[in-house]
Amino acid sequence: MNLSFERAKKPLTGILTVPGDKSLAHRALLFASIANGVSRIENYPDSGVTRSMRGALSSLGVESELSEDGVLTVKGNGFFPFPNKRAVAYCGNSATTIRLLAGTLAGLGSEATLDGSEGLRRRPMGRVADPLRSMGVDVSTTPDGTAPLVFGPKPASGLNALEYTLPVASAQVKSALILAALGANGESVITEPGPSRDHTERMLRAMGADIISDGLTVRVKPCKNLRAISGKLPGDISSASFLFVAAAIVPGSDITVCGIGLNPTRTGILDVLSMMGVRIDIFNEREEFGEKVGDVRLRSNDDLNGVEIAGDLVVRSIDEFPAIAVAGAFAKGETVVREAMELRYKESDRIAAIVNQLKALGADIEEFEDGFCIRGGTLKGGVARANGDHRLAMSMALAGLREEVVVEGAEILQESFPDFEKAVKSISV
Ligand code: S3P
Repeated sequence: MNLSFERAKKPLTGILTVPGDKSLAHRALLFASIANGVSRIENYPDSGVTRSMRGALSSLGVESELSEDGVLTVKGNGFFPFPNKRAVAYCGNSATTIRLLAGTLAGLGSEATLDGSEGLRRRPMGRVADPLRSMGVDVSTTPDGTAPLVFGPKPASGLNALEYTLPVASAQVKSALILAALGANGESVITEPGPSRDHTERMLRAMGADIISDGLTVRVKPCKNLRAISGKLPGDISSASFLFVAAAIVPGSDITVCGIGLNPTRTGILDVLSMMGVRIDIFNEREEFGEKVGDVRLRSNDDLNGVEIAGDLVVRSIDEFPAIAVAGAFAKGETVVREAMELRYKESDRIAAIVNQLKALGADIEEFEDGFCIRGGTLKGGVARANGDHRLAMSMALAGLREEVVVEGAEILQESFPDFEKAVKSISV
């Protein structure tokens, strides 16, 4: 599918909502499946990646039902091996599904195989499998450290507690290890080099787990007794980010996205756009599902400024760089991203993909091993390719609000934000 927007003839305006948060949705469903009793989760987003988690759990024998109005009901299996022994659970394109399930299978002592699409089979799994092996988990990968992941029986003596420092900040890896640690013999201590999203810690704590966060270290006591959960998922700040960037690159825009999650480990995009000179106001702050939630109003100026992004801000905006690069393409001066090597291991090699696709649109952009530098005001338009990456597809399409752009292979956006085109049109006409 090709996607192109008409150039915006006037500022973008509107008040809207976005679907529920994918990171929280994955966790709510997975944790509900190992809890006691029935969980009820409202505002559950139905997209490619959340279907991957549901499909994989269903192959393992977990029953869940999604109503037309977005209420997911999950029958908890308790902290026992999943009913379908030695099943092959297909995780599609979803790295969150395969990595969090890997930790869960380890903790439960479930024998099964986790596999996925060609794209998922290219992504590194040693970062989860290696620390799990040090706990005594019987798990194999391909010789390249990729999926399929095959889990054998739990050792008779149980799992060793883990003491581990992650080489790169990753919520997926941290979460996998926390889930395995729930089924270990003693307290595990997991440390990471930067502040990755902490949804797992918050949600499991709310379900009764004994998890203490102290700076970048998490202490996890074994816990096989999780309470069912219920509540409404906040809107996805990562989906809202595309709308914020759309409004940021069209001067004079004024949009409000209501009810989005504002967990500080996820709000890097708001800081980046503020640094670029847009005005951001947050209203109606409240708590839903144990997470901070609010309505966010963004007003753009005539100009955006180029910015430099590195360090913790990279971790707090890890999924937003394709969109940030597009904002940089319409800013004054240079936008420089450094210390973002991790982007090379996402749905695509996102550094190369951002650079190549923005070059295809005429932008002056330079690639570094750990980031890129884009000179604003140089993008002319043309044809970009999604490269099987939903965030790249949506971001490149946004450039079309300023110059003529066609994105090929844009159907991949179904993975995360099926109503993206509708949402952008609702604020741009
Ligand atoms: C996610 C964590 C991030 C992010 C991904 C979702 C999660 O990955 O890029 O889209 O839900 O835990 P890493 O933890 O590997 O950085």
